[in-house]
Amino acid sequence: MGEIASLRAAGIVVLATVTSLEDALAADALGVDALVVQGPKSGGHRGTHSAATEPDTRPLDELLAAVRATIALPLIAAGGLTSAADVRRVLDLGALAAQCGTAFLRSPEAGTSATHRAALVDGRFTETLATRPFTGRVARGLRNSLRHNSMQSRRSAIPQCTNSPGRCGAAATRDGDAEWTRLWAGAGWRAGTDLSGADVARLLTT
Ligand SMILES: Cc1cc2nc3c(=O)[nH]c(=O)nc-3n(C[C@H](O)[C@H](O)[C@H](O)COP(=O)(O)O)c2cc1C
Repeated sequence: MGEIASLRAAGIVVLATVTSLEDALAADALGVDALVVQGPKSGGHRGTHSAATEPDTRPLDELLAAVRATIALPLIAAGGLTSAADVRRVLDLGALAAQCGTAFLRSPEAGTSATHRAALVDGRFTETLATRPFTGRVARGLRNSLRHNSMQSRRSAIPQCTNSPGRCGAAATRDGDAEWTRLWAGAGWRAGTDLSGADVARLLTT
């Protein structure tokens, strides 16, 4: 029995994140229960099935429609959904549910660092960028010096970090240096609030 079949036989519901129709077809063939269709506005990493894959750049609604037209599995839409209207829209397009991440980044329950939280409301940061160097896979975050410099490389050979490794990542976060912290965020970060997770969920669904 394959790994996914074993999990399902044990009563575990198996979801696969997909970022293209090709990944969706591959996941369907493996026998998963449902697909998380993750569009280009998503915060953090996009769950491509291999590091080399270029995730689809089509807007979420188009990607969702393409998967809906081809695959009968339940679909969960993700990426850039920050309001009840956004959630209603993807449900109307045939999604069974919506998955939101960025909308919760400032909630007290989120593990977001103080440096990251402050950056999410700092007018200095005006856009997000999707780059690869942190893990090799495409991931979106606020455009700061770290992410801007990372655009030059596919992996973590970021000159400022190589020359001064202590200044990047955890040390920068601890020191409150938002320019050299990994500021994960989706394109809809400005709609975020500091409400509790329960209140954010209520806003997204009513
Ligand atoms: C801080 C953060 C880290 C994330 N890390 C991953 C990850 O490692 N792998 C993944 O497939 N998705 C990751 N995601 C994406 C979420 O699973 C979800 O699809 C996404 O947050 C939905 O888009 P939104 O951020 O616009 O709401 C991450 C999202 C955030 C906000």
